[in-house]
Amino acid sequence: LANIHFRQLHDPASETFSYLIGCGETARAVLIDPVIGQVPLYLGVLRELRLSLDWVLETHLHGDHVSAADTLRECTCARVAASQQAGIDEVDRQLADRDTFRVGLLDIDVMATPGHTPGCLTYRWADRLFTGDSLLIGGSGRISEPGSNGVALYDSVTRRLFCLADETLVYPGHCLNKRRVSCIGEERERNPFFHGISRDRFVAIRSGEPDQLPATRQSALEANRRCGRTIETEKANQVGVADQF
Ligand SMILES: [Fe+2]
Repeated sequence: LANIHFRQLHDPASETFSYLIGCGETARAVLIDPVIGQVPLYLGVLRELRLSLDWVLETHLHGDHVSAADTLRECTCARVAASQQAGIDEVDRQLADRDTFRVGLLDIDVMATPGHTPGCLTYRWADRLFTGDSLLIGGSGRISEPGSNGVALYDSVTRRLFCLADETLVYPGHCLNKRRVSCIGEERERNPFFHGISRDRFVAIRSGEPDQLPATRQSALEANRRCGRTIETEKANQVGVADQF
């Protein structure tokens, strides 16, 4: 991984992981699932590594935090991409299964892994998967989002992701039990939601869970349908977000 920059960035409020991948040769970068409250962190890291942001990639329509996509689009030259099934308006590129992305000299593959939401994507770069909420370390996303489908989620994980090589690294969308990275072999053998669990059982378990999503879910979903634009971010962007930090 010569002259490639990789950072796992954490938002403590939502326990979200965001990922920066940068090509040092061309000084271009992508950011996966950025969170609105961490814009200063992203801009700082980009500046420190002398990278310019080409793309913000969303794994799905988030209900637990507001995306920084629109704000980053305003204060960098980034464009925004998400699944065509995500229900996110105003994206610059709509993605489908098996699409590929080129950022500098880096290739990123798009895998549709629907279930948690209809538009869930997993991004694959080199030996790494960015699974969003489709596959978490020892867990998976809930099926209480708009359009959730437990059968599809089970199939996405067991038929798509678990078919990849054991050593493929799993970088999830959220921090569970303070774990930051796993691999396909470990999740196939140890993830209690999938290992030794039938599809019917998985759906029964997940359907029976109480909805623990934050009360702010509706407003987060609403903002994220516009790439994370809210009245507040719009005002801030008029002042010039980059100037404030
Ligand atoms: Fe989610």
